[in-house]
Amino acid sequence: MRMRAAVLEEFGRPLEVQEVELAEPRAAEVLVRLEACGVCHTDMYTASGADPSGYAPAVLGHEGCGIVERAGEGVTLVKEGDRVVTLFSPQCGECEHCLSPKTNLCTAIRAEQNLGHLPDGTVRLTRGGEEVRHFMGTSTFAEYTVMPEIALAVISPDAPPTHAAPFACGLSTGLGAAINTAKVEAGSTCVVFGAGLVGLGAVAGSRLQGAERIVCVDLSDDRLELARGQGATDVLKGGPDVVEAILEMTGGMGADYTFEATGNVKVMAQAVEAARMGWGLATMAGVAGKGETLDVVPRLLITGRRVAGSSFGGCKGRDQVPQFVERYLQGEIDVEPLISHELGLDEVNRGFELMEAQDGIRSVITFD
Ligand SMILES: NC(=O)c1ccc[n+]([C@@H]2O[C@H](COP(=O)([O-])OP(=O)(O)OC[C@H]3O[C@@H](n4cnc5c(N)ncnc54)[C@H](O)[C@@H]3O)[C@@H](O)[C@H]2O)c1
Ligand SMILES: [Zn+2]
Ligand SMILES: [Zn+2]
Repeated sequence: MRMRAAVLEEFGRPLEVQEVELAEPRAAEVLVRLEACGVCHTDMYTASGADPSGYAPAVLGHEGCGIVERAGEGVTLVKEGDRVVTLFSPQCGECEHCLSPKTNLCTAIRAEQNLGHLPDGTVRLTRGGEEVRHFMGTSTFAEYTVMPEIALAVISPDAPPTHAAPFACGLSTGLGAAINTAKVEAGSTCVVFGAGLVGLGAVAGSRLQGAERIVCVDLSDDRLELARGQGATDVLKGGPDVVEAILEMTGGMGADYTFEATGNVKVMAQAVEAARMGWGLATMAGVAGKGETLDVVPRLLITGRRVAGSSFGGCKGRDQVPQFVERYLQGEIDVEPLISHELGLDEVNRGFELMEAQDGIRSVITFD
């Protein structure tokens, strides 16, 4: 079929919305008609050329929500008409990692996905006979996409697509960092560095876990205000003195749990330093620049602080994304303030501009 999609033609250039060909889903694959797709930093990062593993031409986009249009041969996990959230982090349910409760890093299709291929090593996207690759295995800046069934989470049909899309990436990453990775205990003190979608998700996740005190740190007053809306009890302006301020607020001890959601390695170090002696756990969700390293004084670790990392919030996506969406529908997670702009596919580059200007938390592309 022919459809419209936003293609990364050349690094450092705007995406080009154009007609491309999408082939039918093969075995274990599914054709999804997109309803909404969030615009995320990872899309912009790849488009800029800063990611050395990036590839072009490719259809970008990974925060998708849509409807199953057609299931390929042997598909059992979804059926026509299901509303689904796309998963860049799939869940095959069978690999060593999927069978372990300790990790969500499914290994089933990793190698081909990193190359922009579907699991059988080929692509369904072409343009004038030339191959176009599938970004993050999702390619959701498009009217339709073909994806493996193991990379689709079936959610409630009642969830509005614009509000379900952020669960495909940033929001679940933050929620999961608190709920799965840190397993925040009730009554504890949490500090979240960064109040973008990931950090705000970590604030909400800490609240859902029953944290008593949640401190959010950011540079922007507007974002700190949003953090209060997600459950932050205290807010602080970021900067070199913020660890001292956190120690003062916590009787000199530091927090039970800290979360890093800025991608800045200096802030990551602050997250370790602000964690409590004895058992403080610092969880890194931010993605640092290529080649950057985290500097930690070993004494901080010897005296009981621990450091963890969290990819997609440790969520096993097919199981957990539907649960998060359900909690949103029950009123436990407030998604509305996180959606700032609704754009058409033609305005995808405007989504990048809004992100660069920090205008709102998420722009969501909608399809009619
Ligand atoms: N681990 C994962 O699976 C995963 C998934 C999605 C995104 N990420 C990463 O998480 C990070 C956050 O993503 P986002 O979409 O929320 O980004 P964002 O840019 O919207 O938010 C980052 C926030 O950090 C704040 N900030 C910058 N410097 C600061 C400082 N010194 N102190 C305190 N706050 C500071 C900014 O003001 C901003 O509000 C990024 O690095 C992103 O690449 C990771
Ligand atoms: Zn993302
Ligand atoms: Zn797996």
